[in-house]
Amino acid sequence: MMEPRSWLFVPADSERKIAKALDSAADALIFDLEDSVAPGEKVRAREVLKGLARRSGGPQWWVRVNPLRTDEHRLDLDLLGIADLHGIVLPKAESGADVAELAHRTGSIPVHAIVTETAASLFGLLSYRDPNSPLAAMSWGAEDLSAALGASSKYDQSGEFSFTYKLARSLCLAGAVAADVQPVDGVFADFRDEAGLTAEARAAAREGFTAKLAIHPAQVEAINAAFSPSSEELAHAQSIVAAFAAQPGAGVLSVGGKMVDRPHLLQATRVLERAR
Ligand code: COA
Ligand code: MG
Repeated sequence: MMEPRSWLFVPADSERKIAKALDSAADALIFDLEDSVAPGEKVRAREVLKGLARRSGGPQWWVRVNPLRTDEHRLDLDLLGIADLHGIVLPKAESGADVAELAHRTGSIPVHAIVTETAASLFGLLSYRDPNSPLAAMSWGAEDLSAALGASSKYDQSGEFSFTYKLARSLCLAGAVAADVQPVDGVFADFRDEAGLTAEARAAAREGFTAKLAIHPAQVEAINAAFSPSSEELAHAQSIVAAFAAQPGAGVLSVGGKMVDRPHLLQATRVLERAR
């Protein structure tokens, strides 16, 4: 299956939201057992997930478990038997060793790690490179990081993310690419601000992220659009691939009056792969 463009969080204790999420156009659903579920509801949330019946087709199913080395985490792992679970989302990951610790118990099931939620995590972003790891995706989180750092706000005076969060975001992107896994942009919390979401998702796509986390079904459409190549991008990529196919011995060519060489061909190939 294609890599998801949109990853929609759903609190696992809400049957109502789960029903809505199953009907959404999200490429992947993350049934959350961690921060969006109150401590007193976690037992019931697990029961809800155990009772879910998988329909054919539809989004990938992922479960966000509680952090490693908590009692809740151990109980969450009982859920791994549920039908057609695509993978596990690991919050508060601090290094590749955390993914290895999880995989020790969960085997080859794919893992999506959220990699910037603690202060220490910012120093571990190059540690996820491990060809034997089941790691499939890395995303970043600003909410938990700001709480961990004791910040009163994540934003600077102009309303943009402060430097610390931009750093976390860029390190997540480069760390994921270095590990050869999908780089996933973090949540846009203001779910009524569609223009703001679209701008942030497009900016992420331009930088190299290939997906974004969502917290509300209304965010899915804009995210899917932002991470789908436009018809102009497709046509441009096709013309680059065609130009190199016509002159296989060439290192550098001119396409549409501009220089293109190997990095452009690589990027064009990626665009065509994503469009498939
Ligand atoms: N998945 C599925 N359905 C959702 C949803 C989600 N993430 N978020 C909202 N909905 C549903 C609501 O239940 C509501 O359905 P209803 O009209 O049948 O009751 C509908 O979409 C409209 O919701 P709205 O009234 O706009 O929002 P809300 O106030 O009910 O919920 C949040 C706002 C933020 C609480 C909710 O979007 C949410 O729970 N998001 C996920 C939070 C999460 O998982 N966080 C962890 C990762 S950061
Ligand atoms: Mg959190």
